[in-house]
Amino acid sequence: IQEDEDFRPNFHFSPKENWMNDPNGMFYKDGTYHLYFQHYPDDNVWGPMHWGHATSKDMVKWEEQPIAIYPDSLGYIFSGSAVVDKNNTSGFAKDGKVPVVAIYTYHDMDGEKDGRLDYQYQAIAYSLDDGKTFTKYEGNPVIPSTGIKDFRDPKVSWDAEHKQWLMSLAAGQEIIFYSSKNLKDWKELSRFGEGIGNHNGVWECPDLFPLKVDGSGEEKWVLLVSINPGGPNEGSATQYFIGDFDGKTFKVDDDFKQNIEEEHDYWVDFGKDNYAGVTWSNIPDEDGRKLFLGWMSNWLYGQEVPTETWRSAMTIAREIKLIDYNGELRLISSPVRELNTYEDKGIAKSDLEVSGKILFADSSSVDLSSVIVRYSIDSLNDGYQIILENGSGDELVIGYEKDNNEFYVDRSNSGRTDFSEKFTNKISTAPRIDSSAIHNATLILDAASMEIFFDDGKNVMTEIFFPKQPYTQLSIKAEDGSLKLNTFSAKNIHLQTD
Ligand code: FRU
Repeated sequence: IQEDEDFRPNFHFSPKENWMNDPNGMFYKDGTYHLYFQHYPDDNVWGPMHWGHATSKDMVKWEEQPIAIYPDSLGYIFSGSAVVDKNNTSGFAKDGKVPVVAIYTYHDMDGEKDGRLDYQYQAIAYSLDDGKTFTKYEGNPVIPSTGIKDFRDPKVSWDAEHKQWLMSLAAGQEIIFYSSKNLKDWKELSRFGEGIGNHNGVWECPDLFPLKVDGSGEEKWVLLVSINPGGPNEGSATQYFIGDFDGKTFKVDDDFKQNIEEEHDYWVDFGKDNYAGVTWSNIPDEDGRKLFLGWMSNWLYGQEVPTETWRSAMTIAREIKLIDYNGELRLISSPVRELNTYEDKGIAKSDLEVSGKILFADSSSVDLSSVIVRYSIDSLNDGYQIILENGSGDELVIGYEKDNNEFYVDRSNSGRTDFSEKFTNKISTAPRIDSSAIHNATLILDAASMEIFFDDGKNVMTEIFFPKQPYTQLSIKAEDGSLKLNTFSAKNIHLQTD
């Protein structure tokens, strides 16, 4: 029976010890990507929140660093962001050192216990050693509570177009935008959210940013909003909105409004395990990418998953793009290309008629707990299934059903599932967005997670699982031999540990 360290990801970030949730404060500076995270270093469940810290040269191979921000008398340190204040707008620079400024929420546990509603407020802290250690600003909080109970997760970025620091903040089931010249004084600009989008839970972890429509000169603004519960497959998930921002107000396009009202399928990820994801700040213009990463778990069962030493991992870092597809704007995502540099030996096949179940790869050719699988289907008369098995009865099934044009992930027999009923009470589904006859997908498998990017990332599904033995077989199955496979490959991901 596998336990604990066997479930440790091979190439996703997980803390050495104890509890982790949301990614926080992601920024890039001088060749290093920084990732902070909601962390309780003393237990494997949620508790007094700190900002843990990890760094990477490529967003794939992470090194955990000492804790960056500790709770204090103002409260726990909740989610937030970090920016590189190149022009020293904050005045925190010293001896020519560029300040990195973190903006986060204080959560006053005593306030919550006393039943008050004013226990969340926004604060800043600065670092003069590139994000290793932070000094809290003596004028905190920079945005006092307004009496809205859920008032948190400030995401700040430099809005180059309107020359301001721009903050998105979650407040109940709305997002409040603020602007600032110096990261200390904030002025409310506008609010967004009433009457649009999914409201079956609390809105959290927003992120508003401009993004070019791929292949055109057109620029739109994208707003990410995590919601818990209320996800398309229950629990936590992240929805998005597309529109314009004039420096004050974010307004979705009429088309978008109509589409989201008709069928809300504007989800960054349809799987159960990608939450609170936001984008990196300070990515150089030469790079030009929008880079994203989320917490690979769900509040429905995140604190009960069968690992004791540590709990939870982050998704693979992803590039997100805006595309105009069939006259509709859509957000798509794909694993960052840096992952490809770790591809090692594997197998590849092409031109296959699939009849019944065909074994593609087993543990003699690839390690199925550290692999990237790609396939492309030329034609399909019916649905298909991708099946992972271990010979001891555990199976994870990923599939497509033609009748209702839906992708799905079925982990109900994937291994250890008894820790929470909510882990398996629903098979996750995703309405297919692409309308082409050709199906392609990239599937990333780690020891306890799968992330599948269907149709160039138009539908993404991320889910975790805990097989009793490692999966050893990967097959494809098409009921009536009605599937023609163009290509199929499985390549090990191998992170040299030097
Ligand atoms: C989202 C969240 C945030 C909050 C943090 C607390 O998962 O609830 O809204 O800041 O986690 O750990």
